[in-house]
Amino acid sequence: MRNDFENILFSEETIKKRVAELGAQITSDYSGSSLMLIGILKGSFIFLADLARAIDLDCEIRFMSASSYWTKTVSSGTVKFEKTLDFEVAGRDILLIEDILDSGVTMTALTEFLAKLSPASIKICTLLDKTARREVPIAADYTGFDCPDEFVVGYGLDFAERYRNVPYIASLRPEIYS
Ligand code: IMP
Ligand code: MG
Repeated sequence: MRNDFENILFSEETIKKRVAELGAQITSDYSGSSLMLIGILKGSFIFLADLARAIDLDCEIRFMSASSYWTKTVSSGTVKFEKTLDFEVAGRDILLIEDILDSGVTMTALTEFLAKLSPASIKICTLLDKTARREVPIAADYTGFDCPDEFVVGYGLDFAERYRNVPYIASLRPEIYS
């Protein structure tokens, strides 16, 4: 599998340390609030599992699924997500947990949708931020790492549903997806 990767960008050790820092920051920022973590499936599942255990607060954990149609490694810009929630967000402090902010289209669609449901606050925590590829003006409130403009996989991130179980984050060799 390693032969499919160009570079290891973030090692297990590096990720572990950064997730602990994010958890401590979130714990301090949200003390005394009704924090609800919403993991955006599927890419955030491993990040959320680790981050949630680094947050020392009584919090609720929910999930939403979002997907955009992809042509190879580029998003089409059309986001699909389930608009009937099986939980209430009114009055809650929402922290959306995402694997990667790329064009920003997914997070913009989700935050605009959730904002209409009167939460107390909405913030974004993303493990990776590919700022070079932003198409809509949206910024994360918490970022694990700035990510170079390369297609990356591992630690929950996939290419065609593969590599999610890789414990570190690596860039995929272009010949794998071209
Ligand atoms: P956006 O709407 O363009 O910001 O896309 C966000 C979604 O695209 C993320 O939640 C990922 O699922 C996916 N994505 C963007 N870049 C990558 C990447 O480099 N590797 C794997 N998935 C990616
Ligand atoms: Mg995703």
